[in-house]
Amino acid sequence: MKSEKIAIFDTTLRDGEQSPGCSMYLDEKIRMARQLEQLGVDIIEAGFPIASEGDFNAVRAVSAECRNATIAALGRTIEGDIFRAGDALKNAARSRIHTFVATSDIHLEYKLKKTRSEVLAMTRKAVRAAAGLADEVEFSAEDATRSDIDFLCEVFTAAVEEGATILNVPDTVGYTLPTEYANLIRTVKQRVVGDRDVTISVHCHNDLGLAVANSLAAVEAGARQVECTINGIGERAGNASLEEFVMACAVRADKMPFENDIDTSQIYSASSLLSSIISFGVQPNKAIVGRNAFAHEAGIHQHGVLSNPLCYEIMTPESVGIPKNDIVLGKHSGRHALTSRYEELGFTFDQEEISDIYTRFVELADKKKNIYEQDLIGIVHERSETLIAA
Ligand code: KIV
Ligand code: ZN
Repeated sequence: MKSEKIAIFDTTLRDGEQSPGCSMYLDEKIRMARQLEQLGVDIIEAGFPIASEGDFNAVRAVSAECRNATIAALGRTIEGDIFRAGDALKNAARSRIHTFVATSDIHLEYKLKKTRSEVLAMTRKAVRAAAGLADEVEFSAEDATRSDIDFLCEVFTAAVEEGATILNVPDTVGYTLPTEYANLIRTVKQRVVGDRDVTISVHCHNDLGLAVANSLAAVEAGARQVECTINGIGERAGNASLEEFVMACAVRADKMPFENDIDTSQIYSASSLLSSIISFGVQPNKAIVGRNAFAHEAGIHQHGVLSNPLCYEIMTPESVGIPKNDIVLGKHSGRHALTSRYEELGFTFDQEEISDIYTRFVELADKKKNIYEQDLIGIVHERSETLIAA
């Protein structure tokens, strides 16, 4: 049986870009969009055209540049937003208007100052207008995870009746838990989608560090589009990280029997390009793309990895496009790692020699945090000199 496909919707250029320290110039957005296409994302959300001239131009330019991915533009359920989004998408090979309105009581009362029936009417009007301006319409119920379930289903049903074929269930404030979110997805599938050709999408924020876990749980419950960003950038604690979601699916294909079109060997390039454009990189221990994600310092780990990487690596650095296993030498390193590094440098030693060199190495590593190749060569020279002098 052929497994089902999960569409990867990348919002690095929209939700990601709107967060502090992440704004990008037009040429940077175009470079990033090209890399996202190389990576194989299905949908690139290129901006929020009504928000600024820059966003409008970015959506227009990315539409002209990227001919394989669907290009999405965001707009509130307001006529002006929808027309502006449609205008920006005019030249896309495949266009999507993504329109959203909040459905939780707290947002209705304090932010929108609208009643439920007003929100319902806005949804119908905006989705109907969008359906005439783009190839497809996605509707998002902002703050879905804190919304009344009956009202949420009513709004989603109205959106489908007006032409939306993708229903997004955002965890806008990163509040939900995996089992709870999975139940919500099942309910929407049962009460709204039924046997209609409608895709359920998920969009998780990472305020509790659960964005990827929630996305995975949602997919198991029936979602078939995942919204995410490179390096997990996005509002506040960010969005679900694309590389983490995709690699979880790849590594645990036994439990996640779904397909996607991502070329995982392009992950590291996409991550590095983004870090070089925005004002910060990823933390060293960031899963998949952090500097230490594949680094092993403790001696027992280094020995295991050198004998067989599967001892401590559940995926290879090469599978995400990192050229080489990055073994860091330090005071916790063992003889095997040291011997192996010397071999890479062209030195071979017998047991007695390596014992002596290892003692010198540990003495140095006690004083010095990082040991570089020059240090290793220095140890060999120093040892030769002492032997000659003796
Ligand atoms: O987090 C959110 O609710 C959003 C919507 C616009 C989809 O970004
Ligand atoms: Zn968001």
